Amino acid sequence: MAVTDYGVVARLCSRASTMTTNDYVLGTHDEEVARLQLQHRVWRPQVLDAFRRAGSRSGQTLLDIGCGPGDVSQDLAEIAGVSGRVLAIDKSRRFLDLLDLRTRERRLTQLSSLELDLDRDALPDLAIDGAWCRWVMSFMARPRDLVVQVAARLRRGGVLVVHEYFDYATWRTAPPCPEVEEFVRAVMRTWRESGGEPDLGLMLPHWLGELGFDVRDVRPIVEATRPGEPKWDWLAAFVESGRRRMASLGVMSPERAAAISAAVERLAADPTTLMMTPGVLEIVAVRNQRGAARGIWIRRPFCSTMSVFRPRA
Ligand SMILES: C[S@@+](CC[C@H](N)C(=O)[O-])C[C@H]1O[C@@H](n2cnc3c(N)ncnc32)[C@H](O)[C@@H]1O
Repeated sequence: MAVTDYGVVARLCSRASTMTTNDYVLGTHDEEVARLQLQHRVWRPQVLDAFRRAGSRSGQTLLDIGCGPGDVSQDLAEIAGVSGRVLAIDKSRRFLDLLDLRTRERRLTQLSSLELDLDRDALPDLAIDGAWCRWVMSFMARPRDLVVQVAARLRRGGVLVVHEYFDYATWRTAPPCPEVEEFVRAVMRTWRESGGEPDLGLMLPHWLGELGFDVRDVRPIVEATRPGEPKWDWLAAFVESGRRRMASLGVMSPERAAAISAAVERLAADPTTLMMTPGVLEIVAVRNQRGAARGIWIRRPFCSTMSVFRPRA
């Protein structure tokens, strides 16, 4: 069977993974897998452009941190080629099972996966040339510790590329729609209640500077999109899965969830409507000589002692 459809793969994996799923706030169910796949298609040109500017190339050792079902991991594997290596890391066994299936199907021998809870477990002690992390640190309890760990593993001149939101509340419509704004507020509230920070991008440039990176490029990305365009479809899909999930978790009533869905349908019927995307900060940061040459201290999570990672050649 050609594994080209995540819905098919997700159903194949769902029985086996029911007992082992390590959920995050948006879930790891079929609908979330399909949403992440759509998200990948919509963002792929910008992501590949960021990798190009980061100097990603064949033969490199790269990490996809918080890889989800692994769409970007596969792109990174294409870039690294058979002479390189890509390690895709996530805490969700279900997502990693999907990734492993597709990796085998496409015979991407340079791509492997690793189940880690990044708030609890240390990254493997690898010397890496680059790392990619999108919409992961904003779900974590200890995101700065992750940056510390990535810094310790990047070779001098190695590059970290990050996409995180810096202003989620730019997600609005013209004309304004109270139901969309209610939805965005509910998402931000539940995100924070589950221990994350939607606008984490605001912290990253400062942390990166402190932790031995030169922030080479920072791009705020906010777009105005119309009904039927890829980024509209991406946001509309998130409203659908998000409002259903929030209703099932009791975060909002089924009536409010239905009203939000109906409002987005009404907006989509008017081609003059605009939807502004939640503000993403794209950061390309290079491990500088100063930090990489000295090695840096890492406090291991849940451990009172300190351990040092030695500098690499
Ligand atoms: C919004 S998804 C993004 C997935 C992927 N980076 C992408 O852009 O398609 C967030 C991912 O972060 C993972 N994640 C969240 N917290 C994590 C943690 N503490 N350790 C490992 N993975 C985590 C989730 O399992 C999920 O796959």
